[in-house]
Amino acid sequence: VGTDRQVVDRMRQQLPPHILDLFDDVGRLADGEGVQVYVVGGFVRDLLLGVNNLDIDLVVEGDGICFATELARFLKGTLRTHEKFGTAVIRWGDQKIDVATARREFYQYPAALPQVEASDLRQDLYRRDFTINALAIRLNRERFGELVDFFQGVKDLEQGLVRVLYNLSFVEDPTRILRAIRFEQRYGFTIEPQTMGFAREAIARQMIRELSYERMVDELILILSEENPAPALRRLTELGLWEYLLPGLVWTPWVEVEVSAVPSMLKALAEAGLPVPQRPWVVYFYILARHLSMEGVCFVNDHYPLKQVMRDDLFKLHKEGKDTNQALMNWLRGDDPLSRLESILRDWSEEAILALRAGFSLPDTVRLFEAWRRIRETRPCLTGNDLKALKIPPGPIYARILNRLRRERLDGRLTDAGAERDFVRRLLQEEAPASETKGGNHV
Ligand code: CTP
Repeated sequence: VGTDRQVVDRMRQQLPPHILDLFDDVGRLADGEGVQVYVVGGFVRDLLLGVNNLDIDLVVEGDGICFATELARFLKGTLRTHEKFGTAVIRWGDQKIDVATARREFYQYPAALPQVEASDLRQDLYRRDFTINALAIRLNRERFGELVDFFQGVKDLEQGLVRVLYNLSFVEDPTRILRAIRFEQRYGFTIEPQTMGFAREAIARQMIRELSYERMVDELILILSEENPAPALRRLTELGLWEYLLPGLVWTPWVEVEVSAVPSMLKALAEAGLPVPQRPWVVYFYILARHLSMEGVCFVNDHYPLKQVMRDDLFKLHKEGKDTNQALMNWLRGDDPLSRLESILRDWSEEAILALRAGFSLPDTVRLFEAWRRIRETRPCLTGNDLKALKIPPGPIYARILNRLRRERLDGRLTDAGAERDFVRRLLQEEAPASETKGGNHV
């Protein structure tokens, strides 16, 4: 990737025209403002690796906020600034750019949020996590496409190495340990041995304990959001990080089998035209949490900033997971009707079901989800209004009748509105004497 000419060629080949036009405009504006502007970080890394990434981070040598204000005006976008950090975000249409003033960061104490002061590009890149993320490309017109590589990032990209820029990198920001693992696995790289040594040192010094759980969870979620997180999770195990992330988790071969099974499970669902979960990381998270003790689940509940539905799922998986999985197996093997499956799965989220199924037969899982979709799409012909027309007084009984109709329909016993009406009439007649004597309706 060496020369600037090659970088420009790569940009022309790989980037969509609107991004090239945007860079052109940025360069021209930067010249007009008398500042140097660079695109930096993950964008450059991925450009050189030939990976699609349109997350644009600009660094300005000069007043970044002033430049961002001009650029936002030019793009007719909205601008949000953070004066304290010298950063700004510009949004227009469905696009977004981050703009930062080149800055130097210093930490008041390890694992603290950094203090910042304006600086030049070299210092800005030096404060970053890894050499492969510390590359920049100049956008000013005269030197457009000049690759800035102070720390041999290109060499590390070529050799597939994740290397920190300075010894205390992990001590100052322990989230970088998880980032190193994520990049290593995502690109099939290796954490460079000395860097690995620094990571182990920071772990031995218990630096991770200084982090808020929120930051740690964010990083864990990023790992779980990668296409195949299993190898990264194995790395977390090797480094003894579960003790901090999910205390009590034992990474057994079976956990690994389950986690490794998820990508093919999602693929099989997609190929069968079935909806796949929007957030696959939740499936992985549930698999891991299923292997915790109750104490571990309570720890997650107390320390992780999770939504209530996820908390409910975690406890449910723990308490009822095994029985539910057994019931699913029985349903798959037997010839129970769809209404039976409906009663098993009624209160389960899609992610939790997938977490239960991981490691089991793929065709069975697809069959299960096909049936589940059929269940969800099945509605009785009658609606609440039809029940009203049958002179049934509105109340909770409506939900019970409609649910009962749905079950009958699922099992093929009712197929049209007329039959449903007759069924409801019969139901009410049968129930009437009972409700008189027992004082309730037992539909
Ligand atoms: N960065 C860092 N230390 C961190 C987080 C981020 O030094 N703890 C720097 C890196 O230089 C990184 C840049 O900030 O390239 C942007 O961060 P982010 O968007 O999180 O990372 P990307 O490298 O773009 O990675 P991804 O592809 O996962 O978005």
